[in-house]
Amino acid sequence: MGSTILVTGGAGFIGSHTCVALAAAGYTPLILDNLGNSDARVVDRLARIIGTAPRFIEGDVRDRALLDKLFREQPIAGVIHFAGLKAVGDSVADPITYYDNNVHGSFVLAAAMQAAGVRTLIFSSSATVYGDPDSSPIPESAALRPANPYGHSKRMVEQALADLQHAHPAWRIALLRYFNPVGAHESGLIGEHPQGKPNNLMPFVCQVAVGLRDKLAVHGGDYPTPDGTGVRDYVHVMDLAEGHVAALRHAAQQPGLVTLNLGTGQGASVLEVVKAFERASGKTIAYEIGPRRPGDVPAYWGDPSLAQATLGWRAQRGLEQMCADSWRWQQGNPRGYES
Ligand code: NAD
Ligand code: UFG
Repeated sequence: MGSTILVTGGAGFIGSHTCVALAAAGYTPLILDNLGNSDARVVDRLARIIGTAPRFIEGDVRDRALLDKLFREQPIAGVIHFAGLKAVGDSVADPITYYDNNVHGSFVLAAAMQAAGVRTLIFSSSATVYGDPDSSPIPESAALRPANPYGHSKRMVEQALADLQHAHPAWRIALLRYFNPVGAHESGLIGEHPQGKPNNLMPFVCQVAVGLRDKLAVHGGDYPTPDGTGVRDYVHVMDLAEGHVAALRHAAQQPGLVTLNLGTGQGASVLEVVKAFERASGKTIAYEIGPRRPGDVPAYWGDPSLAQATLGWRAQRGLEQMCADSWRWQQGNPRGYES
């Protein structure tokens, strides 16, 4: 068995896919998750993909005593920290809950790692730290202008981890700024299942395709983009997962801190996603163009060239595959892990 990697939030969407990539690369994932936005049945699905069930601890990343016990009892070589809350609207309505979970949670984790002498940390940041960028593709050097408490929470943790690495140069840290993660593992056994009405485009499109919702509301058709709808850099969740493995391997080479965009470098509009999904699924996606969603940025996509140069990582999967894999998961699991 390879090195044990603690995966906080490992029962969630990106975390569960990263457990698959870790196992494929010879690591042993150890999941810590409070199940606030996930389902423990993901562990059985992971067992079917990986061949053995990853160890799962139900608990909160803010529980210092639990973390100390884990670091004492397990031979943890590094941590990938996904645990956090991610709904922009909720963060505006309830900022303290967001800062407590995302910022305080990261501080408790970093302090426990420091005490335990575990100094390798991969952190889930977000392209949301850029806010409304001046231009695309966005390089890592672009101005950081988060526009909501969720974005601020990511920015704050990035800063604190940079300060930590400066104070203690033995730390090996990667801050990964994801663009728009979509898709699912090609087996169709794991995927994204938001609770309630989906906020994000791809899960909403999937629910229209499977008949759970009547039609997609396209949030704005009058943006200064080729077809008037919003443009984003959608990246396949398995590409992201493999990016984390590449970041771990890079961290193993030398101490330091890297900040990297993980995206494809290409933007797709809402209507391009709808059309690609129709081709992949053979379903017609009913939609209606409505008003803009408050707070939305018209268009942005990332510049992933630094991630390629630093990690040797590049997104391999295109929009068609993102849609085909999302659809396979949705069709086989219309009610998520209850299905
Ligand atoms: P997710 O909600 O599916 O996964 C997060 C997991 O963390 C969940 O399983 C949840 O139960 C768990 N969790 C939350 N707070 C916890 C706590 N205090 N202790 C233990 N477990 C806790 O979300 P995801 O899409 O997989 O996102 C993972 C990370 O990536 C998050 O930090 C998110 O902010 C970041 N991110 C996500 C996106 C995206 O669009 N999905 C984009 C950029 C960044
Ligand atoms: N959209 C619709 N209808 C919907 C949902 C979305 O038209 O029902 C549009 C949006 O207006 C936007 C695009 O689809 O143009 C993508 O929207 P998402 O909600 O899927 O994603 P966002 O780009 O708004 O934000 C996501 C995550 C954030 C993260 C950000 C990082 O939700 O947490 O990507 O780039 F910070």
